Amino acid sequence: MSDTVQQVKDKLSIVDVVSQYVKLERSGTNLRARCPFHAERTPSFFVSPERGTYHCFGCNVGGDIFSFVEQIEGLDFKGALKVLAEKAGVELVYERGGKEQKDERERLFELLEVATIFYTSRLSDAAKKYLKERGMKDVTMQEFRLGFAGGEWSMLSDHLKTKKFTDKEILDAGLAKKNERGSLTDKFRNRIIFPIADSAGRIVGFSGRIFGEEAHPDAPKYLNSPETPLFHKSKILYGFDKAKVPIRKLNCAVLVEGQMDLLASHQSGWGNTVAVSGTAFTPEHAQLIRRMTDNIVIALDADAAGIKAAGRAARAALQGGLNVKVAQLPSGLDPADLILKEGADAWKKSIRDSKDIITFLLDVLEEHAKSKDNFRRSVEIVVLPFLADVTSPIAREQYLGEIAKRLGVSESAVAEAFAKVPSSPEAGASRETPQSATRESVDYGKVKQAYAILLWQQSLPKPAIDVAAFKAKLEEAAGPEVSKNLEKLTGELESLRFGAERLFARTQSLSGEFETLIRVILSERLSRELAEASLALKKAENTANEAEIAIHMQSTQLLTKKIAELHKKG
Ligand code: UTP
Ligand code: MN
Repeated sequence: MSDTVQQVKDKLSIVDVVSQYVKLERSGTNLRARCPFHAERTPSFFVSPERGTYHCFGCNVGGDIFSFVEQIEGLDFKGALKVLAEKAGVELVYERGGKEQKDERERLFELLEVATIFYTSRLSDAAKKYLKERGMKDVTMQEFRLGFAGGEWSMLSDHLKTKKFTDKEILDAGLAKKNERGSLTDKFRNRIIFPIADSAGRIVGFSGRIFGEEAHPDAPKYLNSPETPLFHKSKILYGFDKAKVPIRKLNCAVLVEGQMDLLASHQSGWGNTVAVSGTAFTPEHAQLIRRMTDNIVIALDADAAGIKAAGRAARAALQGGLNVKVAQLPSGLDPADLILKEGADAWKKSIRDSKDIITFLLDVLEEHAKSKDNFRRSVEIVVLPFLADVTSPIAREQYLGEIAKRLGVSESAVAEAFAKVPSSPEAGASRETPQSATRESVDYGKVKQAYAILLWQQSLPKPAIDVAAFKAKLEEAAGPEVSKNLEKLTGELESLRFGAERLFARTQSLSGEFETLIRVILSERLSRELAEASLALKKAENTANEAEIAIHMQSTQLLTKKIAELHKKG
């Protein structure tokens, strides 16, 4: 197994892995980004390509490609290895026969994968014909692993049981219900199946669209997996696994409402599209998107219900710190209809013409307002609450200006009205916590700082200083206890490296800097020893112990001389 780990490490750089999730920017020899593990506005997440590591000064997480994938995908080491091995094209060799207990989540992932294969193998000609009529290409059906659940009561459950999954596991995965007789009934029947993946691309749930003659007329059009240990609607976006890289590249995500809309959008060249699955867009969804970009375009029907839904999504997105634009579609058309009827270009135009949320609201309200007064009032009621969700003070300032201009009033009047708007309870929760205050919390005692520089330099292929020589100097200057104290720091080595790098990367003469640091360390140590010696001398004088007095006298004199010499040199 360890062989595999090395192979994966050789093939994948930390930059390859991390950039799948966050947008990295150069920062000296390192790269930086806003941390994907906590909400922040200024980037304190650093990646070192040379060392193959990452570290966040905000929330103090760090590690290598494996721990990164473990943390971001919520996996254990084995799970991360699996994801990375696949990405690296390295084959995992499992120890067969070993009856190791797989953990519950792993079992559920496997079960959902088996179910997906089952559904896709049963995508009927009739279902394919229907999807084709709706404009879907074969490659899209394959890529998104569309499938079909027939009308039988327990076809999937029976299949899963032959694959040695238990009733409990099938129920836990949300794929069946227990009937009165205690046996399992499949949840999805007479439906086209859209498998829903987590951000690593593993299937965690399904959405099923009613299809087929046997379907019950009263059955809901779409049915989604219930909340399970793997499927959390408020945190999972349909299509995100495929969209994340295009989102980063285009620096923008497109949000649509339905599965079909998502497929149509991806198919017409907008790979950065994601969809919610039968739930509202939440600030948690916004966090997911913010790993890749700050910008979202929300596409909606121009009808009243569409505007309302988009308004709610927009508020959640703003609260999550996203810049929000709205793409307006012709009334009564959703993206799938638009693309089918008017072509990919019409969809492209809608996205290109998207308006900033505040501008969009002002336009809609002005259009529908009966009078200037009426417009003013509706702006107060509708637009100002949105403004309260804007997290950037600069953006808010700009909006205040725009609103004032549109209403023909002074900015201070708008600001005054705005001050009276009660802030929504959710807004506060997702706004940045003062966590960033702890960013510099690494304690840079001087010895620690010098040690950090050594660690950092040691990790470079071409250190700018003679590491071994400076290490010896440091130990000499700091005294014998220092090595022991440094041993305690092993838990934060990576943090120290990044810290030193950040503080000293632009330093011209690192060795000069280091010399100074050592002199200060030495001076502080000598002063401390002098204070101790003086105290001991006083004690000896009190007890009139001549021999002791002589010893301490000598050492205070020696220390005083050393300190004077040091200051002369400095
Ligand atoms: P729509 O009713 O607008 O359906 O619901 P649609 O996407 O246009 O469906 P098609 O084009 O007829 O196939 C939009 C989304 O709301 C969720 C689904 O995710 C759907 O795609 N929804 C809808 C449900 O979860 N349950 C429902 O009963 C209906
Ligand atoms: Mn539709």
